[in-house]
Amino acid sequence: MSTIAPSSTRTAPAVTWDVDDGIATVVLDLKSQPVNVISRAVKDEFLACFAALGDDARVRAVAFFSGKADNFIAGADIEEFVKLGSAAEAERLAADGQEMLEGVARFPKPIAVGIHGACLGGGFEFALACHYRVATDHPKTQIGLPEVQLGILPAAGGCQRLPRLVGARAGLDMILAGKTERAAKAFRLGMVDELVPPAILAEITLAAARRMAGGWRPRRKRPGGFVGFLLDGNPLGRRLVFRMARKQVLERTAGNYPAPPAALEAVAYGLRHGMAEGLRREAQLFGQLAVTDVSRKLVQIFFATNQLKKDPGVANAPPAVRVHRLGIIGSGFMGSGIAGTAVAQAEVDVRMKDADLGRVAQGTLAARAILDDRLKRRRITKYEYARLVALLSGSDTYAGFGRAELTIEAVFEDLAVKQEVLREVAQVLPQDGVFASNTSTIPITRIAEAAHDPERVIGMHFFSPVAKMPLLEVIPGARTSPQTISTAVAFGRRLGKTVIVVQDSPGFWVNRILAPYPNEVGHLLAEGASIEDIDSMAVRFGFPVGQVTLLDEVGLDVAVKVAGVMQEAYGDHIIPAPGSGLAALVKAGRLGRKSGRGFYIYKGGKKRGVDESVYGLLGVHPNGGPRPAEILQRLLLGMVNEAARALGEGVVRNPRDGDIGAIFGFGFPPFRGGPLRYADDLGAERVVADLERLAERHGVRFTPCEVLQEHARQGTKFYS
Ligand code: 3HC
Ligand code: NAI
Repeated sequence: MSTIAPSSTRTAPAVTWDVDDGIATVVLDLKSQPVNVISRAVKDEFLACFAALGDDARVRAVAFFSGKADNFIAGADIEEFVKLGSAAEAERLAADGQEMLEGVARFPKPIAVGIHGACLGGGFEFALACHYRVATDHPKTQIGLPEVQLGILPAAGGCQRLPRLVGARAGLDMILAGKTERAAKAFRLGMVDELVPPAILAEITLAAARRMAGGWRPRRKRPGGFVGFLLDGNPLGRRLVFRMARKQVLERTAGNYPAPPAALEAVAYGLRHGMAEGLRREAQLFGQLAVTDVSRKLVQIFFATNQLKKDPGVANAPPAVRVHRLGIIGSGFMGSGIAGTAVAQAEVDVRMKDADLGRVAQGTLAARAILDDRLKRRRITKYEYARLVALLSGSDTYAGFGRAELTIEAVFEDLAVKQEVLREVAQVLPQDGVFASNTSTIPITRIAEAAHDPERVIGMHFFSPVAKMPLLEVIPGARTSPQTISTAVAFGRRLGKTVIVVQDSPGFWVNRILAPYPNEVGHLLAEGASIEDIDSMAVRFGFPVGQVTLLDEVGLDVAVKVAGVMQEAYGDHIIPAPGSGLAALVKAGRLGRKSGRGFYIYKGGKKRGVDESVYGLLGVHPNGGPRPAEILQRLLLGMVNEAARALGEGVVRNPRDGDIGAIFGFGFPPFRGGPLRYADDLGAERVVADLERLAERHGVRFTPCEVLQEHARQGTKFYS
């Protein structure tokens, strides 16, 4: 085996190789790290390795693999981006990477690459520079260019090589959305040349290297057929592709994310001016993007979510109980969503229980719809679908719950009903079975009062729709045991959720910090603001939808109920506008999207315009109202103030959890880093001054909380 002396920071070499019968088998394995990444040091080893292979007369072709069990290369080393001091330095970093991959692409001996596991960003760009790509058909093999999700662009030639390989249309589709595809789709798109089971990856890749050593070269037909040719193969079609992509990018980013438009430019520039010029532009744009505040924030979120993935949720956590069978009580909207997600993500046996068999059947169908959707989108095969569907069962009794390590209730939001099902199911649950409640407003400690064993009762607050929403709040009650916490956290993670552990207090975290937001909408409408103005300001700030639209989506009846709980708990500072407010709309049968009418009108599932008659029902008149900047300030600072207050009360364990909760729970703009990070950016002194001014004008609901005042006094931040 040959190696290159590793850099001083590592003890073992990352790149090793053997030569046998004219073929060099190269393996990348960063021994000290869980995944392979391309750092500066690895780049040096790559360069030295290829120089040696180039000089070695025995070597006629190269077969390249990862030494990791389930990871190919996760991309360039993101840790290095954080340290970049200037755009020029970042540009140089990209140019160095490009130069190395140009060396790979022009390497005089052909290189076949065998891909198993995540092949992302710079890792895929390396594979693109190689001459033949074989990938395993394993679900862990995910291939793509996710760079724009970090606020940068593929800068090791990805913006040039991918569109040339698969056509501008498919290439842009991947790059601009930062998509990652399973291997089967990557193969269909032409991103890889061959798809094989993991057991024969090495054999097939070596065979390809051998064939190429003998002079054979792959001949690729551009995928996409005649339409592909019309759109990608001629300048007119291409112009259309770019025009459409530009429009989509603008719609999707609303001007808040500079990376997708920059990536579009890098692709367009390269196709117009050739590879070398394209690479230059790509590196230049990378340099500009890598030092933007947006990219820094997105990278912070990447690391924060990674930290959370490893956090058991409680100090000195005992090992989580592994869940094999999940019980669900209440197979309505949320129960069926949890059931379908659990089967699809964690492949556990799910047993549902509802009041009668008709509802169980409905719930099973709704749970199965999640699997139908995955089958339709080819995320699973027909065989997997059949296997997963068979994991779902239910009845109107607790039969089967005796083996459930975890049971989640999602019955009506009523303390008595929840306590009743807890008493019933406790009689059949295994001795160490955990009971979780999906309540959105009832204290877990109250529910647990009905339990013999409150140590095993906990809250698991999912968001709707369960299959899509990425956040889960786990809420220990006063007596919940550490192992119950780690079990709930670990299972939530198996469902693919980002999990934060939250204190058992009204609204938990997400609904708590959201509370001032719809409340302020009432005040703004009363002062003559229009629904469109309120929504458009929030969207301009970067929220996926405006606050009024969000109310329609959640359901006005649900919002009224939550608002009631929040006012009861925090009435000293969450003070509603005078009048009947949302309740008047609910009384008039306007429940939001689900009833076809809320603040907006919905037809055929599509949002139409504002329902002007709402103003009359609310007793308000749009007349210009407060200035747009004030609308935004009031909506945001109320939320920031509540987030700071709740953090001070220990509702979340740290600012990281709080910000991740806001981003994944209700779409706080990721590029702003979350409400607490946003407060840090503005500076506590300014936030406090603005809140004081608002409090003078609009009352105590804006009085800055003690935590913010303390930061202002001390000149400190949430993130030190
Ligand atoms: N750079 C630095 N560290 C990375 C990394 C990267 N590209 N990818 C993963 N890591 C680290 C994680 O931070 C984590 O570190 P920790 O153990 O110290 O917390 C560790 O590797 C394991 O990662 P995960 O916990 O996320 O492992 P999973 O198995 O759950 O997921 C993965 C693996 C799918 C590869 C996921 O880590 C991932 O999506 N990584 C990022 C991929 C990415 O965005 N690549 C593009 C990088 S930018 C680039 O290539 C620019 C180029 O165009 C020039
Ligand atoms: P739902 O009305 O759709 O479903 C409730 C189900 O529970 C019904 O099928 C009902 O028949 C069943 N049920 C009632 N009593 C039962 C009993 N004694 N035994 C067995 N089944 C019984 O309600 P939804 O929206 O699914 O809400 C369920 C829970 O989830 C509530 O606590 C709610 O607050 C919470 N929640 C709801 C969210 C939402 O967006 N809808 C979001 C987060 C939490």
